[in-house]
Amino acid sequence: MLWREAEAFYRLPELSHLPKARLAEVRRAIETDGSYQHTPDELLIGAKVAWRNHARCIGRMHWRSLRLLDFRHCRTAEEVAQACWEHLRQSTNKGQLRSVITIFAPRTAQGEIRILNPQLIRYAGYRQADGTVIGDPLHVEITELAQALGWNGTGGAFDVLPVIIQMPGDHPRAFDVPADALLEVPISHPELPGIAELGLKWHANPAVSNMGLEIGGISYTAAPFSGWYVGSEIGARNLSDTYRYDVLPDVAACMGLDTRHDRTLWKDRALVELTYAVLHSYRQAGVLIVDHHSAARQFLNHVDAEGQAGRPVPTQWSWVNPPLSASATPTYHRTYDAPDFGLRPNFVSQDTVLSCPVTGAVRAVEQ
Ligand code: ARG
Repeated sequence: MLWREAEAFYRLPELSHLPKARLAEVRRAIETDGSYQHTPDELLIGAKVAWRNHARCIGRMHWRSLRLLDFRHCRTAEEVAQACWEHLRQSTNKGQLRSVITIFAPRTAQGEIRILNPQLIRYAGYRQADGTVIGDPLHVEITELAQALGWNGTGGAFDVLPVIIQMPGDHPRAFDVPADALLEVPISHPELPGIAELGLKWHANPAVSNMGLEIGGISYTAAPFSGWYVGSEIGARNLSDTYRYDVLPDVAACMGLDTRHDRTLWKDRALVELTYAVLHSYRQAGVLIVDHHSAARQFLNHVDAEGQAGRPVPTQWSWVNPPLSASATPTYHRTYDAPDFGLRPNFVSQDTVLSCPVTGAVRAVEQ
């Protein structure tokens, strides 16, 4: 199984520059040790191709520019945490965001490294006695785990969670994100002063930290990666979904809209102005962000270029279309190669088990 996947990896045209002897060496390593190690060059190419293969990403035009931080030598949770901060500093780059992946040691028979947070920067969600949530309701469980591990937030709406790291066979441990690894943007609107008064903000860097990276039969279970935001991810999802920050009624109030009837389209109008405010605020703060029209255009350029190169672009239509104004973007009006989640290398969803060493509670969270 491992050998078959390794062999398929080394047959990729992207690795045709390797000497013939490399494949034989990998075969010997698998036979004698039961596994093999990628060179840094193979690792970076594998990660780039995984990005190119991933059917849910609209930003794949940039796959060649991925940078690698090879942190496979980290052996302790502290070392992994330090590497995560290095990832955040280098990829955030003071607002000029760059696509970076940090790769930790892969799964072995002894276990695997896991980062339990879905992203390196995430806001806490505090469940109140009346059932409501202050902060991001998506993160109530990870917040409770952080608290069980001894972390104490302020109880506010935008408390950055500690990064919770679990080394093979060990308890999870929580590490606070240092201030110099964090960049955030307060949200304001150029014409609606009421928006700034809502006190909204978001983080600059979307660093996905709970997906696995599969290369040549090797499973990298901790491999955080990041690029930059599309404005609509924040304005038309994170801040506006009813099960997230749910701020559309507040935005509509700032706009003086009649929220008593759906037919006034107050939600639609608030979505547009909030997403506009996000784009305006990031730009004003010097933080790279892309609007959904440009992202869609870039993606279709990528589909064309890949077609020229004779490669399919497996794509999930619902993921490359924006959550607002989809029909005004070119990604809407066409079909794509079928998403192929079996294509390798690739990024894969992995179940996260949030286990609380204090209460003993164990809960599998589907991603
Ligand atoms: N949708 C996720 C969020 O809003 C981020 C996923 C990755 N997005 C990206 N632009 N690289 O936090």
